[in-house]
Amino acid sequence: MADQTPTRVNRNRRIILFPLPYQGHINPMLQLANILYSKGFSITIFHTNFNAPNTSNYPHFTFKFILDNDPNDQRYCNLPLTGMASFDRIFVFNDHGADSLRHELDLEISKKDEPPVSCLITDALWYFTQSVADSVNLPRLVLRTSSLFCFLVYSSMPILHDRGYLGLANDNTTVKQVLAEFPVLKVKDIMKMGFKSSTDAIGGVLNNMVKQTKASSGIIWNSFKELEETEFEMVVRDIKAPSFLIPFPKHFTGSSSSLIEQDRTFFPWLDQQPPNSVVYVSFGSTTNVDEKDFLEIAHGLVDSGQPFLWVVRPGYVNGSTWIEPLTDGLVGKNSRIVKWTPQQEVLAHKAIGAFWTHNGWNSTLESVCEGVPMILSPFFGDQALNARYMSDVLKVGVYLGNVWHKEDIANAIRRIMVDNEGEEIRERAKVIKQKLDVSLIKGGSSYESLESLVSYVSSL
Ligand code: UDX
Repeated sequence: MADQTPTRVNRNRRIILFPLPYQGHINPMLQLANILYSKGFSITIFHTNFNAPNTSNYPHFTFKFILDNDPNDQRYCNLPLTGMASFDRIFVFNDHGADSLRHELDLEISKKDEPPVSCLITDALWYFTQSVADSVNLPRLVLRTSSLFCFLVYSSMPILHDRGYLGLANDNTTVKQVLAEFPVLKVKDIMKMGFKSSTDAIGGVLNNMVKQTKASSGIIWNSFKELEETEFEMVVRDIKAPSFLIPFPKHFTGSSSSLIEQDRTFFPWLDQQPPNSVVYVSFGSTTNVDEKDFLEIAHGLVDSGQPFLWVVRPGYVNGSTWIEPLTDGLVGKNSRIVKWTPQQEVLAHKAIGAFWTHNGWNSTLESVCEGVPMILSPFFGDQALNARYMSDVLKVGVYLGNVWHKEDIANAIRRIMVDNEGEEIRERAKVIKQKLDVSLIKGGSSYESLESLVSYVSSL
């Protein structure tokens, strides 16, 4: 990992970065900000008060709170603060944020006592920012926080809609059908993404995201060429905006932008576990389960006979504050349940033998970066595509899904932790990690991509 100490250089160009205010989007944007800072740029972060990161962890950045910083603004008050409903902000800010953003950009651009602004980098889901950036003559680059594969599938949404894939009934004959456009995907993967039409509310957001990403001055992907070779060729061929592939977790961890306090008390226990013996379980920052499924997961883990480190986010179990539904003593001495971890540090630990994940892209890539094989249980959205890619293209995980039966869970864990099949999967994960490590050396694809991003932004 890169040296995390900010370099002392003469910072004569400034970049404004604007993340979407959710954990899976804040982490990569602040990782990118640290990377650009380490390359000599001065950094300003625009952020909402909602899910604001801990600014004291970033004394080298300037933070500016925008959009929901006025408590009297009727557009933003009364918005739900938690759970899936908090995603309403994506719609509301995209619909109403333009004037505020233009005002803030004008102020920043006209500052005489700070380095001139080279460009704006926003999350791809902030699609409203493209026309604002155009209107103030500022180049806008996009950070796309998921995979290239996912972007290509989202780009094809209108075709998938026309072919009738999006609104299909959940019956056994159609769900197993393979998609002609993406032979690695089955109709059930598309259904799992969770939209019924390319023109419903979420479909509309994704269509706009794709359109305004293609219209941007450049796309930054948290990925690397050797991971998505075919998709990289397609993106370079089909999209005019230049693409830059940089595996962020290899440069900085997402830990300092964690919105939840991280537990570290389990490390002495983890240090005592044999190599590759512990299953790490975490389903990210946005998923939820019912109590019945939670208990099924708990019993599956216990029945597998493997030690585990299980992240149960407060509020993860519907109707519970934390883990009240568990009976005392179910989880034995050889396992731990915690509320939140420094995940990258856990995945890098020699005791971790597999990661049971929901396949949010950050978690997926963090696992790839550490060569840890996965058990794949996507819930919704891009997770379904990430999981399919890991299981069927790269073959670095066992696909379990999220219909919870304790027997299936215990079986998947044993397949990866005990069986020969697991050894082969581990070997493939190791080979991909080696390719990644090579790509980071001078002359390698990830190294060169970062260098070309730096010269591109410097030339704007
Ligand atoms: C969401 C979507 O679920 C995901 O599909 C999309 O790609 C990004 O937005 P999220 O559910 O939060 O993301 O998952 P993920 O992308 O994996 O991001 C979670 C982040 O939280 C990771 O960086 C992970 O390291 C961090 N994390 C998770 C912790 O720091 N500690 C934990 O205990 C669990």
